[in-house]
Amino acid sequence: MEYVVSSGKAESQKTACLVAGVFEKRRLSPLAKSIDAAADGHLTALLRKGDMDGRQGQALLLHGVPGVKADRVLLIGLGKEREFNDRRYRQALQTMYSSLSNAGAKDAWCGLVQLHVKGRDINWTVEEAARQVEQLRYRFDACKSKAEDVSPALRKVVFGVEERSQAKAAGRASEIGAAMGRGMNLARELGNLPGNICTPVYLAEQAESLGKRQRGIKVEILDEKAMQKLGMGSLLSVGRGSRQESRLIVMHYQGAGKADNPHVLVGKGITFDTGGISIKPGAGMDEMKFDMCGAASVFGTLQAIAELELPINVVGIVAAAENMPDGTATKPGDIITSMSGQTIEVLNTDAEGRLVLCDALTYAERFKPASVVDIATLTGACVIALGHTMHGVMGNNPSVVNALLAAGRAAADPAWELPLDEEYDELLKSNFADMANIGGRAAGTITAGCFLGRFTGKYKWAHLDVAGTAWKTGDQKGATGRPVPLLTRYLLDRADNGAR
Ligand code: BES
Ligand code: MN
Ligand code: ZN
Repeated sequence: MEYVVSSGKAESQKTACLVAGVFEKRRLSPLAKSIDAAADGHLTALLRKGDMDGRQGQALLLHGVPGVKADRVLLIGLGKEREFNDRRYRQALQTMYSSLSNAGAKDAWCGLVQLHVKGRDINWTVEEAARQVEQLRYRFDACKSKAEDVSPALRKVVFGVEERSQAKAAGRASEIGAAMGRGMNLARELGNLPGNICTPVYLAEQAESLGKRQRGIKVEILDEKAMQKLGMGSLLSVGRGSRQESRLIVMHYQGAGKADNPHVLVGKGITFDTGGISIKPGAGMDEMKFDMCGAASVFGTLQAIAELELPINVVGIVAAAENMPDGTATKPGDIITSMSGQTIEVLNTDAEGRLVLCDALTYAERFKPASVVDIATLTGACVIALGHTMHGVMGNNPSVVNALLAAGRAAADPAWELPLDEEYDELLKSNFADMANIGGRAAGTITAGCFLGRFTGKYKWAHLDVAGTAWKTGDQKGATGRPVPLLTRYLLDRADNGAR
């Protein structure tokens, strides 16, 4: 898909389709008004006849509008002007995309970016529009015997801004949004692939191919033998019941000088989580193929920042394993030794995410990181606490936590902080080892965060629990690509190279 920013007058654009918005009770947006003026009141006349009243979700496709060069004009209902916010803007973009697809338009001039969205500016509306269009293009067809529908005709979207002076920053914003959208789609594809295809070794191959595709990314793969040598007894304990070998995947993106300390992203890559010997109930267990969505977001974010050529160094680490019950599997009560030297009593083999992450977090020390952020579908408790709207954030450093919260707000990919208090940490006490791997039912998301906190004392660290946000259930079942936007914005801000 090609994205262009242009500051020309709407009515003089040669395009398959001009897109403008209409608020409720037939109130034309400023752009729609100017098209209406060029068309000698044609739009007002149609609205008065009752063709559209501007409710959210409405779309009206017009052919042969006088006074404009475009083949068609597409009016999108925006709802009440006073209530026009992030969500409604996103819905308007979705309506636009489906109408353009139905019309078979090859290109479009989108004036919706000029709309005033509460608390946002033109760079935000352009970024969000590019990101939405990329996302809406995504279909999962890797495992279908025939493609479901014909590929959409839309090839090019022009974002129409009012002023010439806005064009440069908006151009960068469209690149950022498109890179985020493509990064999300990569994360979604990896997430959606089933556990029998997307194994730890498959993820390692995908990393290699990302390294080949993207200048600036170099990939290192550690197999079980290499991890054994490093003493990663905790990570290795998780894959012991699986026929699939575990992998530690390390992706280096170098966009700055060698001496620049990298930001490190660590992803939970459990390619299937049966729970192990502490086996999960059957209902909905298929969704545990999504237990590598943290890892997938590391892939997506690395691709996005490499496309954007951010002047920053980033290391992406993926701890990949499959959690299965078997004669060789780790059992409740087993005690393992992590790479840090700390011993762990595995009271529940279903609390495996923290076991793979802790060794990856210890491994991260060697990069002398500027910050470390881990991303994990870690606890069902997080879904209970925050639902499917916000990620959970915890950390040992307020500046990293606050930067993530701010990035989430900026990218409309929001997160909410939970407290990592000492008193919660005490719940991890074990009579037989340095710690247990679970803290009981109460505050399950926080005790999981406390567990990770015991391995991150050497650097600034935050943890994102994406158990509720990384995928959707029900008839829309599928990976969401979150938190790629949050992470990309976080790194853009660290590189101080964002459009905003
Ligand atoms: N991958 C799951 C967490 C999860 C569950 C994410 C449901 C999304 C939906 C994780 O490995 C897990 O099983 N966690 C346990 C921890 C418990 C045993 C302390 C959980 O949340 O039940
Ligand atoms: Mn589990
Ligand atoms: Zn899990």
